[in-house]
Amino acid sequence: NETYDFVVVANRLPVDRVVNDAGESSWKRAPGGLVTALAPVMEAADGAWVGWHGAPDEEVEPFENNGISIVPVPLSESDVNLYYEGFSNSTLWPLYHDVIVAPRFHRAWWDRYKKINQRFADATAAVAAEGATVWVQDYQLQLVPKLLKDVRPDLKIGFFNHIPFPSVDLFAQLPWRKRVLEGLLGADLIGFQRPSDASNFLRAVRRILGFTVRGQQIHVQDAQGNPLRIARAEAHPISIDSASISRMAKDPKVQARAKEIRRGLGNPDVVVLGVDRLDYTKGIRHRLKAFGELIDDGRLEVGGAALVQVASPSRERVGEYMKLRDEIELTVGRINGEHDTVSHTAIRYLHHSYPFEEMVALYLAADVMLVTALRDGMNLVAKEYVAAHVDNKGALVLSEFAGAADQLKHAFQVNPHDIDDLKDTIVAAIALPEAEASRRMRIMRRQIATNDVARWSRKFLESLAKTDDELSLDA
Ligand code: G6P
Repeated sequence: NETYDFVVVANRLPVDRVVNDAGESSWKRAPGGLVTALAPVMEAADGAWVGWHGAPDEEVEPFENNGISIVPVPLSESDVNLYYEGFSNSTLWPLYHDVIVAPRFHRAWWDRYKKINQRFADATAAVAAEGATVWVQDYQLQLVPKLLKDVRPDLKIGFFNHIPFPSVDLFAQLPWRKRVLEGLLGADLIGFQRPSDASNFLRAVRRILGFTVRGQQIHVQDAQGNPLRIARAEAHPISIDSASISRMAKDPKVQARAKEIRRGLGNPDVVVLGVDRLDYTKGIRHRLKAFGELIDDGRLEVGGAALVQVASPSRERVGEYMKLRDEIELTVGRINGEHDTVSHTAIRYLHHSYPFEEMVALYLAADVMLVTALRDGMNLVAKEYVAAHVDNKGALVLSEFAGAADQLKHAFQVNPHDIDDLKDTIVAAIALPEAEASRRMRIMRRQIATNDVARWSRKFLESLAKTDDELSLDA
């Protein structure tokens, strides 16, 4: 049995299954920042990736893809239902996003969450070499750090939470709050997107577990109250592979496609863009309402301005997502029905996912990008829009409730709940003089070029590698 010095554990594997015309299936590297960032680390360090391959009720043997060893964890149809759609996406997801919809607490979901976290931990323990570094990703796997540490104290364990961590007053609703905090504290380093997420976590640890917290350090105790070890919580904002996005945006094919997209919309003066997974955290309804009212008020005109809204299908069997889709489609239909002309549309709504090149062409084609999330761990779309604007044109309207607001200070920051503010900000972004737009875009581009995803993973892993001696020097 082969073992590895560096193991990433995530609910999803970094590969997608593709089926050719002859019906033969193979695996293709999935797009996305996390894989891009970790691929060089994995190749250098002899790495493995433990995760679910996305097909219920199917066993897949370990395999190799582009220099990464893939270790599939199987989930049955009922595991998907209880662990993934249930506890992960109907309990934790809404709870951690400030209860935008009500989280549902079911003991059967929690039982399955525990069981599947154990399955991931077992699969990881089986492939991690003596003294290996293990990096566990996101809210679906919060119990894995402790489950691993208990049987493999030799491992260096990091955890990164990609989504927000809520204030303790909300987190305290969770019937299994102690178990979740203890699970996370199996890690030596627990990373969050924003400083506020890290401090929410530290406060929860102090209040709910009663552990001593000094700065970012937590004095972890065993069940009898004896000191066990020190764990740390830090902010490590994730980012994108900005160089490769900028390179793509300079490709003449992509630039031609951006022009074609504008022509396809009837060459409006202003193209406004929204790109999201279809999720209630993204503030899509607020955005549609603001845009619709701007047309009602006569401040925008169909033909003069067009909104393109890409809403990629997501978690489609979860009730709240079905409901949201209905609401969005009703709203788009109403606005378009009222305002469209035979030749022009107010909102071009696209319930699809597209290849990444097409997304970059869309970013380039857009004069104004709307990121109006009600709560978002980071929001990489905002960063991608900036990286794509090699022409230094364009304006970004960005919710202050997205982690990206910490880095993109030169965006038009808004409170998406304030529809009047949102409307005024959209109008201001459209009217922004070219010189000022370019000044802001240059500053944001510099920010993103320096703080890219490779730096994110390097910084996290450097911090994780710190020895106890180095830490006591820090303190
Ligand atoms: C968010 C989460 C990820 C998740 C992704 C897509 O970004 O932080 O963990 O993978 O959404 O959601 P899905 O449920 O399709 O994996």
